[in-house]
Amino acid sequence: MSSIKVVGGEQLKGEVKIQGSKNAALPILAATILNKGINRLCNCPKILDVFHMIKILEDLGCKTLWEGDTLVVDTSSPISTIVSEDYVRKMRCSILFLGALLGRCKEVTIAYPGGCSIGDRPIDYHLDAFKKMNVLLDEEEGSNLIRCKATCILGSDIFLKSPSVGATQNIILAAVRSNGVTRIFNAAREPEVSELCNYLIAAGAKIIGTGSDRLEVEGVSYLHDVSFTLSPDRIVAGTYMTAIATAHGEAILRDAPWWQLESVIAVLRRVGCNIETTKDYLKICSYKKLNAINLIKTQPYPGFPTDMQSQIMTVLCLADGKSTIVENIFESRFQNSEELKKMGAEIVIETEEKRAIIRGVDQLYGTIVEAHDLRGGAALVTAGLAANGTTLICNSNYVERGYEDICRDLSYLGAKIGYYSESILYLGA
Ligand code: EPZ
Repeated sequence: MSSIKVVGGEQLKGEVKIQGSKNAALPILAATILNKGINRLCNCPKILDVFHMIKILEDLGCKTLWEGDTLVVDTSSPISTIVSEDYVRKMRCSILFLGALLGRCKEVTIAYPGGCSIGDRPIDYHLDAFKKMNVLLDEEEGSNLIRCKATCILGSDIFLKSPSVGATQNIILAAVRSNGVTRIFNAAREPEVSELCNYLIAAGAKIIGTGSDRLEVEGVSYLHDVSFTLSPDRIVAGTYMTAIATAHGEAILRDAPWWQLESVIAVLRRVGCNIETTKDYLKICSYKKLNAINLIKTQPYPGFPTDMQSQIMTVLCLADGKSTIVENIFESRFQNSEELKKMGAEIVIETEEKRAIIRGVDQLYGTIVEAHDLRGGAALVTAGLAANGTTLICNSNYVERGYEDICRDLSYLGAKIGYYSESILYLGA
C-alpha cells in the first residue's frame, strides 16, 4: 500500500507546469482503435489510468510506444472484440471501448463496469442509445458480461435524460463510422467531450456542434492517421489552486487551462484568493483568512465541477464561518468528509438533501487518513499542507490514477511532501 507523507504548516511559493488531461486522454485512447492506423498523442499524462488503457489496447492487439510525453498507438493490426472483465472492473472508463469496438468491429463483449466509492455509476444511457442505433444486446442471466452485435450501426436521434459525459462519448465513438447521422440532444459539454470531438475531426470524422449540448455526427467509412496534442488537465490545475488557497502563499500554474475553470476561479476569488490569468499561465495568491461560501452546487459543465468538490471542501474547512456544498452529480461523493474530520474539520453531511455543511476551524491537525477515491485523496493532500504537524495519506495509489506526480509538483511549490512505500505506524516529528 503506497502512502504520501506531508509535513504541514509551510506557505507555498513557486511554479509548476500542469500535466496533460486525464479525462481527455482516456476517451481518446479508446478512440484510437477507430482509424486502424497510427495515432500520436502529445502531452499524454503518465498516470495509472493511462497505463491501464494501454494494457487494454495491447490486450486487444494494438501496439503502443512512448516517445517522451508522446504516446504512439498503432491500431492497424486486426483486433479482438473481447475486453477482459478484470480490466473493466479495475477501471470504469474502459467501458468506452464498448462504443469504439462497435464503431470499428460492429461487435464487442465487455463486462458491466460496476460502481465505485462515489456512486453506482450505471450505464443505462449508453445501452439505451446503442439499442436505438441497431445494436443487439445479449445479457446472459447471472453473467456480468454484455455481448453486443450489429449488422450495421445506424445513425439515430438520442435524447439523454441527463448530460452524461461517458454516454455522450460512447455514442460519438459508435457513431463516427456508422451509417447515417446521429444527433445527440442534451449532450455533455465538458471540455473533455470537445477534446474527443476535436481528435476525431482531426482524423477525418464529421462532427458539428462541438462544445454545445447538441452534437451531430455523420458516419464516415474511413478515419486516417492523426497526431494530436492533449490539453492540460483542468482538474489538476484546480486542485493546485486549492492547495495554495488552503496552505496560503502564491503560485504560477503554467499552461493551466483557466478558460475551462471559470466556475472554480469565481469561487476561489469569493473565498479571498487573488487570481490573475495570461495566455501562458494562471497566478494565484492567498494570504488572507478565507471567506466562507454560503452555497456551492456541483453542476454539469460549465457549472462547478463535481471533480473539484472534495478539494473545495478542504478549503472551506479553514474558512471563517459556515459553508454549504450540494453534490448534484454523484450520490455518495462526501465520504472524504470523514477523513477531514479526523484532522479536526467540522462537517455535517445531510444525505437526504445531498449537502455538506462545513463550519470553518482555525486549524487542521496532521494524522493518519485514508484516500477512498482519486479526488478525495488529492483533497487530503491539500489538507495536509495546511495542517499543523504531519499527515500520512494511505491508499495514495488512488491519487496516482489521475496525478502524474503530486509530490513532485507540490515540491516545486515548496511543500514538504513525499511517497512512502509502506504506512508508518506512528507519525515521526
Ligand atoms: C466522467 O465520468 C469523469 N470520468 C468523472 O471524473 C466525472 O466526475 C464525471 O464525468 C462527471 O463530470 C472520466 O471522464 C473518465 P457521467 P462519467 O456519465 O462519464 C449518471 C474523475 O475524478 N449516469 O457524466 O462516468 C451517473 O450515475 C472522474 O476524474 C446514469 O445514471 O460520468 C452520475 O450520477 C470521477 N446513467 C451522472 O450520470 C448512465 O448511463 C454523471 O455521470 C450514465 C451516467
